[in-house]
Amino acid sequence: MTAKEKQPNWLASKLIGDELVSKIKDLDPQQLSWLSGYCAGLLESSGEADVEINPVSSAADVSVEAAATIKPVLVIYVSQTGNAQQIAQSLHQNLSANQVDAILKSSLDIKPKELKDYSAILVTASTHGEGEPPDDAIEFHEAMTSKKGAKKRPSLDGVKHAVLGLGDSSYEFFCQTAKDFDLALANSGSASLLEPVLCDVDYEEDAEGWINHVTASLKDYISSLGGTSQPGVVKTINTEADPVHELSYDKNNPFTATVETIQRITGQGSLKETYHVEIDITDSGMVYEPGDAVGVIAHNKLELVDEVLELLSLDANENVIYKGKNTSLKSYLTQTAELTLINKATVKSLLELTSNDELQTIHDKEFGDFIDKHQFVDVLHIVKPKLSAQELVDILKPIKPRLYSISSSLEEFPDEVHLTLNHVSNSNQFGHRYGLASHFLTQSLEEGEAVSIFIDKNQKFKVPKDESPLIMVGPGTGVAPFRAFLQHREALANSGKNWLFFGNPHFNTDFLYQVEMQSYLKSGTLSKLDLAFSRDSEDGEKVYVQQKLLDNAEEVWQWLEQGAYFYVCGDMHRMAKDVESALIDIIKSQGGKGEAQAKEYLKQLKLDNRYQRDIY
Ligand SMILES: Cc1cc2nc3c(=O)[nH]c(=O)nc-3n(C[C@H](O)[C@H](O)[C@H](O)COP(=O)(O)O)c2cc1C
Repeated sequence: MTAKEKQPNWLASKLIGDELVSKIKDLDPQQLSWLSGYCAGLLESSGEADVEINPVSSAADVSVEAAATIKPVLVIYVSQTGNAQQIAQSLHQNLSANQVDAILKSSLDIKPKELKDYSAILVTASTHGEGEPPDDAIEFHEAMTSKKGAKKRPSLDGVKHAVLGLGDSSYEFFCQTAKDFDLALANSGSASLLEPVLCDVDYEEDAEGWINHVTASLKDYISSLGGTSQPGVVKTINTEADPVHELSYDKNNPFTATVETIQRITGQGSLKETYHVEIDITDSGMVYEPGDAVGVIAHNKLELVDEVLELLSLDANENVIYKGKNTSLKSYLTQTAELTLINKATVKSLLELTSNDELQTIHDKEFGDFIDKHQFVDVLHIVKPKLSAQELVDILKPIKPRLYSISSSLEEFPDEVHLTLNHVSNSNQFGHRYGLASHFLTQSLEEGEAVSIFIDKNQKFKVPKDESPLIMVGPGTGVAPFRAFLQHREALANSGKNWLFFGNPHFNTDFLYQVEMQSYLKSGTLSKLDLAFSRDSEDGEKVYVQQKLLDNAEEVWQWLEQGAYFYVCGDMHRMAKDVESALIDIIKSQGGKGEAQAKEYLKQLKLDNRYQRDIY
């Protein structure tokens, strides 16, 4: 008898009524999903990996035989900071609660060839960088979309798929990763279960709707295949226990805190205006961990609002309707309208109202470059449109909260949250422009005034609870979370080793938190501190943190081999890429590995959560 022939009956007699069933029947969906992966691993190592796997449904009332005929559903999350992951977890829970046999996986943990083992593939995907996939999905994305990977992609004829995209429409490549996966699945022969849903910053409602819609459609689909779930009727799970709902304050219901300190921490003559801001959160009940961010709800500068009103010759007191409520145009523009970022959909709507060749070219060909240095008001300078107050309200998007990595630990400052940020400003042909929240926090607010904030959890940027060594690469304001990590470890008397790589233009003006870092060195909390002041070198050669990593290659490798966690925070355009290349070089040169092996090593670091990035 072959392994395939014996599977269902053998399983039934081996498990039913057995001790094992009583042990696993109370496991939650996540644990069951883990167990199924574990069993698959055992099977692979047993040398009989060609056995067809038909995982048994988690529903106790589904017979082994019935479940064996329908392949399970795969839920994949493609996530950088955890939003898409949380939605995938909710979807997975919802499917299980509705007797749909589903397996949850990270994009880091799946290969294209496995996709054919599922009846349906459900993807939740965010987009990062400039239209790029999150770190954990780079390989899977490449394998699914590249010409090179085509040979290894199986035919997905007979498979169904649905994709939920998370993104931000102020980026040029809105929800690009989700679009890529939807296309890649279709190109492999999978049929669309639902049209892709692409969510903007306020994604919660759409995501919840998508979960219910997908669940209902899948139940119908599975029933049509002869499966056991009841068609159409969706049991919605209570998501109250999810971490995303755990905090009472969020972007729609922020906490009114008090700004205690606003202090510039770069010296006179520095190229950068970097600030340290302390916010009092006494009695808020807000809880955060090192690695989390604060969301700040900021208001537009009055001068900017006046410039918009003047360019459009509109009356500040004119009544407008926003979300069904009456308000004055001025208060809408000050508190609600996104004026410092340019949204592509807004530009498109404006072009529909007033055609303009220059703006059309920007929209079609130069959008990415244009939005780097311009704001919505500059678009008005170009077009000088005739718009009514209500037309303006209808094309603009709401302000989105700005997120800042927290630079303090509750263990050290139980009633405070600290931020480290640059005041963003630049000039263009139409005037001087400022970043919304950085200007609001550092220039408009006075110490003692109120600010609306909430905590934005980042499950993917966390300090380990044990004493593993930490290597932290945080030039410029990228040092923020590492100040929090060091405070946290010192307050808890964690004896793990800590190594910080910090850089900025000049030692004299830009050594952020110099006194604190030196005292961490003295106390031993900081085992090593490597500094790259790029414009101080005598030979004029600029030195950056990645060079410091390479200079210390042997020791970096030793730390990695001792189980160190490697963190990167800061600029995504150059620094994060250069640091990753340096890391791969170190793995190659010190670990005696080739390119492919070094990438595999890095992948394993990611799988073990030992390579974490918070880049922007
Ligand atoms: C640094 C950074 C870059 C981003 N780039 C894009 C982008 O190019 N296109 C887009 O649609 N959204 C972009 N986003 C928005 C994210 O996709 C969005 O915040 C999403 O909810 C994050 O989900 P996650 O937590 O699962 O990663 C970016 C966000 C950040 C922080």
